[in-house]
Amino acid sequence: MRHARQLAQLENVRIVAVTDPVAATAQSFAEMTGAAAVSDLDAVLNASPDAVYVCVPPHVHGPIEERLLGAGTAVFVEKPLAADLPTAQRIADAARKAGVVTSVGHHWRYSSAVDLVRELLDGRPVRLAVGSWIDRVPPVPWWSKRAMSGGQVVEQAVHVLDLLRMLCGDVVEVDAYANSTPPGTPGADVDGATVAILKLRSGAVGTVSAACCLDWKHRAGLELHADGLSIAIHEDRVVATTAQGPVEHSLAPDDAKLAADRAFIDAVVGNGTAREGILVDYDEALRTHQLACAIADSGANGRPVRLHD
Ligand SMILES: NC(=O)c1ccc[n+]([C@@H]2O[C@H](COP(=O)([O-])OP(=O)(O)OC[C@H]3O[C@@H](n4cnc5c(N)ncnc54)[C@H](O)[C@@H]3O)[C@@H](O)[C@H]2O)c1
Repeated sequence: MRHARQLAQLENVRIVAVTDPVAATAQSFAEMTGAAAVSDLDAVLNASPDAVYVCVPPHVHGPIEERLLGAGTAVFVEKPLAADLPTAQRIADAARKAGVVTSVGHHWRYSSAVDLVRELLDGRPVRLAVGSWIDRVPPVPWWSKRAMSGGQVVEQAVHVLDLLRMLCGDVVEVDAYANSTPPGTPGADVDGATVAILKLRSGAVGTVSAACCLDWKHRAGLELHADGLSIAIHEDRVVATTAQGPVEHSLAPDDAKLAADRAFIDAVVGNGTAREGILVDYDEALRTHQLACAIADSGANGRPVRLHD
């Protein structure tokens, strides 16, 4: 529904059709947006959409994108790309073959924090990146099952990993540790906490910590440490600290989310000519997904994983 609210703010968008296996969900979405609630994906394609938003649980990705890409439809895919890596690699192949506009919901890339951080760094190399996502178990039934969500690093901390890649470049090796399942979630098999050590191609080092053992969202963000400067990036503010003390910059709420939708729609309306406005297409998101899956794999199997040789 969030994308629908944002798309309603863009003048050249009309939501024509929605489908959901839970008919009541499609119906209430249709009532709120004026779209037609239809029975399945084929019926969505019968409405000849210029683009389709795929906002489904991680384990459901695959056949949906393959059907859409096979029909030559532009797709906006919510993160994570899938609960595993092979599914996302298969979709990426189909997207390359289709050559259509793709975009992925890593909206942190569109935050005004990015330009601000680059300005503050002013060419100083980042030496240490510290990402974290410390939260509760989200109240959706699929989230606590590893086969359905991919686990917390793949499902949630992937936002921080994507921002880290954008600001600091690729990670070439990870070594992760994870512990037992979160409390109070019967049948859960995701890790309750994960920590990963990261080696970046730039020579920087980093860590990512994730935990879902709280009853509240405690922290989601990325800290970058360079010579004489520490920058903490939160969803709503950036805090830059030097020997003179901290300086806080607030960020406008939801700007990044709207900007992500706007960039996708501009590229679709421009028939692909405005693609450079899309900061994270499917292929770029695949590299972030590869990193998240490598951390999950390392944590599960107790060995380091190398990436991008
Ligand atoms: N970028 C962000 O900040 C952000 C925010 C919220 C959610 N998300 C992502 O969006 C995805 C969905 O999250 P959610 O919280 O909306 O989950 P949800 O479980 O609340 O909703 C998912 C919906 O998908 C429907 N669905 C399942 N299979 C389907 C299919 N084959 N075809 C059509 N619909 C199908 C379900 O019935 C349900 O209505 C997750 O991957 C989540 O990480 C991203």
